[in-house]
Amino acid sequence: MVELEVRQLNPLFGAEVIGLEPKVPLDDRTLKTLREMFDKYSVLVFRDLQIDNVFQNYLSYALIGRDVPAPGAVGYRDPEHKAYISNKEATGIAPFGRLLYHSDMMWSDQPCQLLSLYGVDVEEPSQPTVFVSAAHAWKTLPADLRSRIEGRFAEHVHDNSYQRAGGDANVMTAKFADDDKVRLPIGHRHPRTGQMLLYVCQQMTSGIADMPAAESEALLEELFQHLYAPENVFEHHWHKGDLVIWDNLALQHARPNVMADGPARTLRKTFAPMPAMPKIKQPEFSLAGM
Ligand SMILES: [Fe+2]
Repeated sequence: MVELEVRQLNPLFGAEVIGLEPKVPLDDRTLKTLREMFDKYSVLVFRDLQIDNVFQNYLSYALIGRDVPAPGAVGYRDPEHKAYISNKEATGIAPFGRLLYHSDMMWSDQPCQLLSLYGVDVEEPSQPTVFVSAAHAWKTLPADLRSRIEGRFAEHVHDNSYQRAGGDANVMTAKFADDDKVRLPIGHRHPRTGQMLLYVCQQMTSGIADMPAAESEALLEELFQHLYAPENVFEHHWHKGDLVIWDNLALQHARPNVMADGPARTLRKTFAPMPAMPKIKQPEFSLAGM
């Protein structure tokens, strides 16, 4: 096997991995190295890869120590079924607009642990995917803020059409036919790594439980100032052939405004573990200003 080289991309998290030869299965030593890198850096970037949906899905599951679900099992997806974040594909998810910070499925008590995106068609310059670390934010939370959220829970909702656009008409909203929600501790333990996370986000956290709305929003705003501070941000600028795999719980992600008629930005997406199908519903996308 070729020795993998790792290059840290940011002082806090994020690393580029060089030398991966895509194949299914990967040898045990390579897998062990990749898993250690994943848990250490939270987001791994591979460049100039030629990979299909099968390898992307395999690696996504392998990094959290799981096998790809077999046909008939919960989370099984036909390899021919591909999910795209795209402003060009007819069935593209989040086809336009700016996305506020979130972890996918934060409204669920079993959100997926890992997400990946692969650059299928990228016309440069392309808008980046932007990451912050909820783990670092918890570790560095000032004592005053920590005492104010001690023992507190937050509510996270699926339908974010209420969301905090802050006057930006380009923020994308997603209106779902149903509205799942969950109430979880603000100091939340990662189910696989055990690390503590500051578990609130701009896009899906509707409020702090058992607190008047105005007070809740003011406290959330203070938490967001800390969580989304510039020194906690890492941007990945896309090129065709990039594979970016990240811990969906340790990190939150966002993106600046993507225009429907702008440069092509088609990124193939995988989830691990894939949630049960009834939870995956295509929402109605619109812009806050519409
Ligand atoms: Fe997302």
